[in-house]
Amino acid sequence: MTDSKTGSDLAQRVLASRRGLMCGLAGLGAAGALAACGTAEPPSGDSSSDADATTGGTSEGATGDAGGGAAIAATADVPEGGGIVVDDTVIVQPSADEFLAFSAACPHMGTPVNPPDADGVIICPNHGSEFSLEGELEKGPAETGLSPVEITVEDGQIFLA
Ligand code: FES
Repeated sequence: MTDSKTGSDLAQRVLASRRGLMCGLAGLGAAGALAACGTAEPPSGDSSSDADATTGGTSEGATGDAGGGAAIAATADVPEGGGIVVDDTVIVQPSADEFLAFSAACPHMGTPVNPPDADGVIICPNHGSEFSLEGELEKGPAETGLSPVEITVEDGQIFLA
């Protein structure tokens, strides 16, 4: 069912395999999402929005609107080695098919962080704190890493857990 891992001191890591998490949504009433169980491929090409996602800005890349459990993004929207910001959530793909999410609120003073840059560094534009793709603090003034957000991934769609 849920293929999740808990990180050590940095953040709870939620590893979401494309297949392993679909049953976890049953309690959320994500009927539309569950209907897609068993299909593991993203719906479209992976490179169409990579550039947009890695070069800054906030993506509103949600593609699912199944009602109740709408997807917040498609896996194809999240570049490998990078990520996007959707609303108040940073979604990253540190390695192939590994998706993690964090609150976009900087732990220093709550400023929304930027999407990962070309080097995979998540930077807070307010005072310059930096975070890795795993949400680890790399540079202050923040004193902690980004707060994890649990997600599930199924059929190429990313959902809040
Ligand atoms: S609010 Fe992010 S570094 Fe200060």
